[in-house]
Amino acid sequence: MLIGVGPGDPELLTLKAHRLLRSADVVAYPVARVEAAGMAVAIVETYLRPEQRRLPLVFPMVTDGVALQDAWRAAATALAQQVQAGHRVVFLCEGDVSLFATGSYVLLALQRDHPDVPVEVIPGITSVAAAAAAGRWPLVFQKEELLIRPCPDTPEAMETLLDQAAAKGTVLALLKLGVRWQWMQPLLAARGLLDQALFAERVGWSDQRVMAATEVQAEERPYFSLLLVRQGTNAVLP
Ligand SMILES: C[S@@+](CC[C@H](N)C(=O)[O-])C[C@H]1O[C@@H](n2cnc3c(N)ncnc32)[C@H](O)[C@@H]1O
Repeated sequence: MLIGVGPGDPELLTLKAHRLLRSADVVAYPVARVEAAGMAVAIVETYLRPEQRRLPLVFPMVTDGVALQDAWRAAATALAQQVQAGHRVVFLCEGDVSLFATGSYVLLALQRDHPDVPVEVIPGITSVAAAAAAGRWPLVFQKEELLIRPCPDTPEAMETLLDQAAAKGTVLALLKLGVRWQWMQPLLAARGLLDQALFAERVGWSDQRVMAATEVQAEERPYFSLLLVRQGTNAVLP
């Protein structure tokens, strides 16, 4: 059972996710290193019962494809073993399971290596939806398009993306903003877009920062930050 939790706020999860979490024998969750704290488990800590077994699964923060694949397959095998032993198992994912999530890789590894293990996916609330709600910033209207993607790696690629988005009336939701905010802020300022963009950092956590991009200085921000950008005005209301 892969379940989406949060992001951040423990109350941002479905009733189904809550029920399955409460009735699980084993609660598995991603961690970056052995002994490291897990973000997804921190979100639901308040719902866990002492008798539930916690199963941290290590997913190293590396780009080496082989190491990552090994981690996904090892996690899938660990989960499959728990299910085969007759336990009710949940694997926690921050936000939604299907959006740039470790849970998606685990799902694919389970389907490939352990096809007999039944798996259910319980959707969660994406950081994009949570940010839009926290900022009271409607995502899309009428014929607008929405593009959810990682933030481009370079200012040049961002300029191109903004040109394309402007031409098609596309609202951009850019994840993995973090370090890129240093060059993104002046780039948006130069194009007069800062006041049309919403900056959202650690949404749902006690130190959440959700504000007009005009209010955020050009400096490195945490990995858990994103940007919503609409170019042009929406004339929905009379
Ligand atoms: C690996 S993706 C995970 C996305 C997640 N599965 C979801 O449904 O939103 C991580 C990126 O999502 C965004 N993100 C996730 N949680 C966030 C939060 N609480 N506040 C702001 N951005 C968040 C950030 O852009 C971060 O770099």
